[in-house]
Amino acid sequence: MADLPPFEPTSFKYTQSPNPSWSFGDPITTTEDGRKWVEDEKQGWKTIDATKEDPRTLYALSVSGLVPRPIAFVSSVAANGSENIAPFSWFNQVSTNPPVISVSCSPAGRHKDTANNIRETKGFTVNIISEPWIVQANAASIDAPAEINEWTVTGLTKEPSISVTAARVKESAFTMECELLQHIEIKNAAGGVAADLILGTVKYIHIRNAVLNDRGLVDPVKLRPVSRLGEIAYATIGDVFRIPRPVWKDEKDELENKFGNALL
Ligand SMILES: Cc1cc2nc3c(=O)[nH]c(=O)nc-3n(C[C@H](O)[C@H](O)[C@H](O)COP(=O)(O)O)c2cc1C
Repeated sequence: MADLPPFEPTSFKYTQSPNPSWSFGDPITTTEDGRKWVEDEKQGWKTIDATKEDPRTLYALSVSGLVPRPIAFVSSVAANGSENIAPFSWFNQVSTNPPVISVSCSPAGRHKDTANNIRETKGFTVNIISEPWIVQANAASIDAPAEINEWTVTGLTKEPSISVTAARVKESAFTMECELLQHIEIKNAAGGVAADLILGTVKYIHIRNAVLNDRGLVDPVKLRPVSRLGEIAYATIGDVFRIPRPVWKDEKDELENKFGNALL
């Protein structure tokens, strides 16, 4: 990797959408980029039978295709007080009322310490990673024995939480204190554990003022989050654009005029 150019901190800009003059029903071939995308289909398809594919190939393919994934940097504590921190990209929000997030720990031969800790002590924190400290967060994925404290390896700073024993990461601009809501064991064909799916209720959210926009929401340009791609690849989010979500009552007349019965 030494032959690659050095990392440059992202300077995002807000841009127009890829096709600002698009109107309902227009095919993707109305832009040059869209035409190229359609053209590429001539290379054909590779179709995988997920029930028969080798699990390692399926893993590599899945994590390269399900992208970009947000990353939960999860801090947890065992019943004996041993602390743990590790990144998990099989992560997302499940609901906001109540606020619930999901994290999936895939055992790889043993239950991961994070899953064990959360089941033992219930509380954990999910910290969103920003560009300046992705290397530190990545170091925490080391496959160290349970008694090793990954915090020391990362060089990151512990900040006490309000409602859970697990510390939060002081360097994180967006942290959620969570409490175990439900643990679901996903089984493999042999009856072994394929994954520990953790559902956690969000109790507190800590947000750095510096990443908020004037509407009190997190500005991605300021947060500079890092996402996970396939293999060992990460990505920054790049330029940002906004596309309004269509509302039926505002668009109904235009849609009915344009498409008539084809809408039904
Ligand atoms: C960016 C990144 C994302 C990861 N996502 C996951 C994941 O979603 N699920 C998982 O089981 N392991 C994932 N891992 C691997 C864990 O971080 C790694 O196994 C870690 O050692 C688990 O720590 P623990 O056993 O201390 O809980 C990921 C690793 C990296 C670097």
